[in-house]
Amino acid sequence: MENTHNYILPKTNLIGIGAIKDLPNELLSWKLSKVLIVTDKNMISLGYVENVEKILKSLFISYDIFDGILHPNPTVSFVEDGLTYLNKGLNIFKRNYKLIISIGGGTNHDCAKAIATVATNGGSIINYEGYNKVTKPAIPQIAINTTAGSAAELTMFAIVVDNSRKVKMTIASPFLTPFISVNDPIFMTTMPREVTASSGIDVVSHGIEAFVSTEASPITDSLALEAISLAIEYLPRAYENGNDLEAREKMMFASIMAGMAFNNAGLGYVHSMAHQLGGFYNQTHGCYNAVLLPYVFEFNSVSIPEQRILKLCEAMGAITHNRSQAVDLIIDSIEKLRATIEIPSKLSEMGLKESDIKTLSQNAIKDICSFTNPRQGFVEDFISLFKAAF
Ligand SMILES: [Fe+2]
Repeated sequence: MENTHNYILPKTNLIGIGAIKDLPNELLSWKLSKVLIVTDKNMISLGYVENVEKILKSLFISYDIFDGILHPNPTVSFVEDGLTYLNKGLNIFKRNYKLIISIGGGTNHDCAKAIATVATNGGSIINYEGYNKVTKPAIPQIAINTTAGSAAELTMFAIVVDNSRKVKMTIASPFLTPFISVNDPIFMTTMPREVTASSGIDVVSHGIEAFVSTEASPITDSLALEAISLAIEYLPRAYENGNDLEAREKMMFASIMAGMAFNNAGLGYVHSMAHQLGGFYNQTHGCYNAVLLPYVFEFNSVSIPEQRILKLCEAMGAITHNRSQAVDLIIDSIEKLRATIEIPSKLSEMGLKESDIKTLSQNAIKDICSFTNPRQGFVEDFISLFKAAF
């Protein structure tokens, strides 16, 4: 019986304090003439874009900057604005962009992936919703990351909200994987506290969902467990003091490792459900995950082998040989972390309306993250989970 575990990642991953200094060497071999930077105005005011501009100028590479990403929830309209900007450069200024550099967090990387995909494949990003719908390589991308959470700088996924349907689409294709990812914690110290909290707990949910996924392998297990351990230990410190560079560095590693794990193992119902909430309301992705995680884990626990539950419990800092005690300890640990980083405990505090639960549940079961969840449920199970977390 076939049982493949292919492993997909960017070709090069520049990682660590000062990693951005290695970027010029990487760019030299590309022999580039024109680059499009995709970012937002906050990244410009923080000086991060200027850092990259200096590198491009030193290599005599010309560039344009699309800074039209207006809030931390990637939308079809941002992607279309970016494509309009790209096509204007192409048609009026004869700028044939050979590379897109995204600077920022997951939203900016996801928008850049979507722009790069539609630029070469045509149509609208909506046409590519789902797994492996993209047929041609996207414009090559370098993703310079400034948060520790989504790991979008190294994954093959783009998450884009289609406001017309109130759906947060997942576009998944190896063609979306950036060529180079850059993770330098120097760029992460300015993350506001609430972003540190929501993106940090996203890392924990990536680790747990990748570990319990039906597509998990020994490779993704080791990455996921270490990512969970690091995040449990260092997220409270990074939240308490954003200038704690050791905590920022450890959270960066946790984010990368959890991203490497879920990029190849997939995710589960926490993400299927959080995606729907993100399509309807405006709270950040990680906050939804934080609330949903204990309920979904309890639901899934009957389908997770005992040895794996005990291993997960150990990664979260508690040792027991009793299965049900381990489930309780894991749930306690998630809830304690959520409370420490001051994320609300109920979805009703994040905009969820009871009258939307049925539609959200009908959409969640179709989300591609649902396919790798360890326990397969029905729409009624999603309704129960949303109600429990309400
Ligand atoms: Fe996530």
